[in-house]
Amino acid sequence: MADTLTITDNRTGKSYEIPIADGVIRAMDLRQIKVSQDDFGLMSYDPGFLNTAACKSRITFIDGDAGILEYRGYPIEELAEKSSYLETAYLLYRGELPSRAMLQKWTEGVRLHTIIHENIKKFMDGFHHDAHPMGIFVGTVAALSTFYPEGKNIFDPETRRITFYRVIAKVPTIAAFAYRYSIGMPYAYPDNELSYPGNFLRMMFANPGEHYKPNPVLERALDVLFILHADHEQNCSTSAMRVVGSAHTDPFTSIAAAASALYGPLHGGANEAVLKMLREIGSKDKIPEYIKRVKAGEVKLMGFGHRVYKNYDPRARIIKQTADAVFEVTGRNPLLDIALELERIALEDDYFVKRKLYPNVDFYSGIIYQAMGFPTEMFPVLFAIPRCAGWLSQWEEMLLDPEQKIARPRQVYLGERQRHYVPIEERDAAPVR
Ligand code: CMC
Repeated sequence: MADTLTITDNRTGKSYEIPIADGVIRAMDLRQIKVSQDDFGLMSYDPGFLNTAACKSRITFIDGDAGILEYRGYPIEELAEKSSYLETAYLLYRGELPSRAMLQKWTEGVRLHTIIHENIKKFMDGFHHDAHPMGIFVGTVAALSTFYPEGKNIFDPETRRITFYRVIAKVPTIAAFAYRYSIGMPYAYPDNELSYPGNFLRMMFANPGEHYKPNPVLERALDVLFILHADHEQNCSTSAMRVVGSAHTDPFTSIAAAASALYGPLHGGANEAVLKMLREIGSKDKIPEYIKRVKAGEVKLMGFGHRVYKNYDPRARIIKQTADAVFEVTGRNPLLDIALELERIALEDDYFVKRKLYPNVDFYSGIIYQAMGFPTEMFPVLFAIPRCAGWLSQWEEMLLDPEQKIARPRQVYLGERQRHYVPIEERDAAPVR
């Protein structure tokens, strides 16, 4: 059986044989399908990229029907149990798990770059007193490009390596400073003796003048959450990273663009909406009433459903397990009981079963972050910190892929054609709208 697709154009009666490779046809192969010699040729139309592969990738695999997520072939469950975020970042970027010596070198490289230039701190001081930490994060990451202009040498492997260290090391510092600034607390400088998540917890929560020792359970839970959020193939923010990076923009500015995409409530902001929903429901006895409203189409069950997963999001399962360990330290978040009961009822209900709506990563993550002391405004920032590993890995893959060009989609033009300019005095009769 030939790996081809035969297309018959009923406008002309002509047939075309198009190769199929790796389960796809090339959109450019449609161009030969024309009704006349001066016809542009057939294109595919795909708003929202529902069925368009924009790249070939070897980084992250998702099977949404089976609920499978793998980084470089390693199941997310094994990485969450056995790996650390920094090791996972290495795996995503380099493609293989590091040796012990390599991991040590890698960790050192990140540790050495955690400090930010004092002028970046001054730059952050210029934000409005109640600025949203994600807005500060996006602006400050973009500003890094002016402090490290050599980052523009994107085809120099050594520069890319240093940039990776710089980004991974500095984003927790920027994130924590953004939070401290927004609540009027003095900044806590990095302590490079601590682990990556431990250092972040310290920069977030240490009181001035007091010794801060991160709780090892919370430190590990945060590391697991970072592993789960490190990459998720070609989603909205990663696509933004690839599109902006395809213009050979420096990586700091490209990351700011990716983080801007993540700022949107449809992407990185859903866990905040879950908390709002659980607070609104208020108690377990109100759940059936809320489910009725969901089924009537009045509200959505936030944290449920996913464009790709039509099964239990594997990240949600791991987060749910992590919650138990966290709550032993922090005390139980009362919203968890409402969430558990909501999930139980929804998974038995025909409406959700038929539509394959299961809990996604955001259903439980907000409850844990809240219990750990993070305010809701920090939730998208907590997503952006680990996703930098995925963004940079995807960016480098795009850069080194000889098939990639500057991103430049086509359009179907439906507007006016060939009109002549009308002088303004002749347009005065038109109504003012
Ligand atoms: N509550 C109630 N009904 C839902 C929900 C929901 N959360 N999600 C989907 N549906 C229904 C939808 O109304 C539709 O029903 P019908 O066929 O009767 O019209 C059907 O399920 C299919 O939904 P869809 O809108 O075609 O699905 P989509 O793939 O376009 O949307 C989604 C995916 C994540 C935007 C959507 O499920 C949703 O809005 N969920 C709530 C928000 C949320 O939790 N977002 C976090 C996503 S995970 C984070 C990330 O990876 O970035």
